[in-house]
Amino acid sequence: MSESCRIVAEVLEGIKKNISPGISTKEIDEFAESYIISKGARPAFKGYRGYPASVCTSVNEQVVHGIPSVEKLRDGDIISFDIGVFYKGFYGDAAVTFPVGSVSGQAMKLIQVTERSLGAGLEKAVAGNRLSDISSAVQGCVEAEGFSIVRSFVGHGIGRELHEEPQIPNFGKPGEGPELRPGMTLAVEPMVNAGGWEVIILNDGWTAVTKDRSLSAHFEHTVAITKNGLNILTKL
Ligand code: MF3
Ligand code: CO
Repeated sequence: MSESCRIVAEVLEGIKKNISPGISTKEIDEFAESYIISKGARPAFKGYRGYPASVCTSVNEQVVHGIPSVEKLRDGDIISFDIGVFYKGFYGDAAVTFPVGSVSGQAMKLIQVTERSLGAGLEKAVAGNRLSDISSAVQGCVEAEGFSIVRSFVGHGIGRELHEEPQIPNFGKPGEGPELRPGMTLAVEPMVNAGGWEVIILNDGWTAVTKDRSLSAHFEHTVAITKNGLNILTKL
């Protein structure tokens, strides 16, 4: 899994270097797909339940599963990239939200709090804890800053399948769910809205947007719980 996850991390690093106002999300998708294929790997999302691209590109009020298009990024946008890779029998999955050019103070804070909430959740991803300790830590971090955590999408186990048990909500009380054990591999992925937590799906059947059209950010890492602590596989 560390090999598939490394490819995911490298693609996200490459995207980071390439985003600027004027580039289209389709161009970024093409870059990502050719990079993944050049490594002998396969883009995991393409064709998954009919999803049409290699990367999910979610701009501004789009929460997740935005579809790349010829639409160009503009100064002041925020955009999240979610990428899955299948390599030598195993999956890796990660997401990052970037500012495009210079963004508002609130947009920057949303990005920072979302990333920090993922870190807060991962601090609880240690053997002996319970699954919802992660969920509760994410939620606490987000709500303390006045933002809201999306309920209708969750993190997941990952390994030989993209989505495995258990589901990992980003909200809830601590101390519930399965005990975390060495060998578990999880994708933790908070989605955070500047306004309310409700989301709706657009007519394309994929794109989730905030119901109140407030901004949304998304970060995700694939991690492995080991007896010596957490291994963040999608971090370079
Ligand atoms: N990280 C998301 C997930 O785990 C992305 C899936 S996108 C899809 O569900 F295209 F594959 F559906
Ligand atoms: Co995922």
